Amino acid sequence: MTMNKKLSYFLAIIFITPFFFCFKSDGNPNTLLEKVFDVAKTQYSKMLEKSTDLSQYPRTTTANGETKYVPISDWTGGFWPGSLWYVYEYTKDEQWRSAAEKWTASLEKNQFNTSHHDIGFMMFDSYGNGYRITKNEAYLPVLVQSAKSLITRYSPTVGAIQSWNKRKSNDGKTDWEFPVIIDNMMNLELLFFVSRYTKDPIYKDIAIKHAETTMKNHLRADYSSFHLVNYDKSTGEVLHQQTVQGFSDNSQWSRGQGWGIYGFTTVYRNTKDKRFLVTAQKMANFFLDHKNLPEDKVPFWDFNVGQAGYHPKWAFDPSKNNPVSRDASAAALTASALFELSTFSSKRLKAKYYNAAVNIINTLGGEEYLAKPGTNGNFILKNSVGHMQKNSEVNAPLVYADYYFLEALLRYKKLNAGEL
Ligand code: GLY
Repeated sequence: MTMNKKLSYFLAIIFITPFFFCFKSDGNPNTLLEKVFDVAKTQYSKMLEKSTDLSQYPRTTTANGETKYVPISDWTGGFWPGSLWYVYEYTKDEQWRSAAEKWTASLEKNQFNTSHHDIGFMMFDSYGNGYRITKNEAYLPVLVQSAKSLITRYSPTVGAIQSWNKRKSNDGKTDWEFPVIIDNMMNLELLFFVSRYTKDPIYKDIAIKHAETTMKNHLRADYSSFHLVNYDKSTGEVLHQQTVQGFSDNSQWSRGQGWGIYGFTTVYRNTKDKRFLVTAQKMANFFLDHKNLPEDKVPFWDFNVGQAGYHPKWAFDPSKNNPVSRDASAAALTASALFELSTFSSKRLKAKYYNAAVNIINTLGGEEYLAKPGTNGNFILKNSVGHMQKNSEVNAPLVYADYYFLEALLRYKKLNAGEL
């Protein structure tokens, strides 16, 4: 070999090698999908067999490991039909379609629910997925009415949709007149969809304004996020920036950060406004670069539990919940968001988000998190945290952890097939 040829081989290796290492080698996506969807089919077949009251939706487990059900007014109602839609999307087996249709239909009354902001979660994950997958036009008026109900909670003075009705903080010391939580970013997708369908911009205009207000008042300088912002509804002034489910007002509740990453990614997809993309990326970087994020990328339920400078206003006992619980639901929804965010990001960030999401779903598909069939109240994932301050749903399955895990897996498959 001539000297020149040797040099060109050398240079080629130097330049091409980083390209191959940019994406983590993650094997055949189908292997993980087959494994998890097999568990889903077994678990959910049993869940369907025993869940005969269509007004009661599976949410988590009781202390003795039985499935715990909630009425259709609960914020989690959309996730069970949504998970069934995802199993149908994967299997194309009609029995899953009819199960998804049945559990979607019994949520119908919620289209008129104006009592909280969660109607986006409830109706878009059920009816929205149903429409996306089947194009059943009967679902459209329900989605339109749901969006109408959601925007009744919008205040032009505040520039946001009110999440909850007037209430007190957990310690009873603060009145929140117009509370808005970061989770509310997840309800905006419904509004974009309905504007597109009806050609009426009112819904998307409200969604954009809500996202701008959230960007301004929920985010800290380092792109971590407050769980709750309370406004003066007559002036729009920010009165409080606090938490409900996090460790302390200034800490980072993991699921809240996940809702933000996911929500701003969705708003970017619908607007192509770069401000929302940058916000989603910076929130994702906060999450992924945090020194307290474990190697396997499944976060503790809050990034700052028991640390100096973070003062809980609840009966925190460091000897309990030791070791600190991880939250599989935060991991699952963040993985799903990161897969989508990777498609809007270039080079370094694309690889960073994709690799982190692959890392998360592989961890969740391992024995620490994936349930053995016949256990875990027939949910798929173990080890989420619902509400640590209330010692509620700790190291428990949560229906929304399942939903976002299945969604993340389907996004992984679509990405690898060039369909996302
Ligand atoms: N949206 C309520 C929660 O994340 O727990």
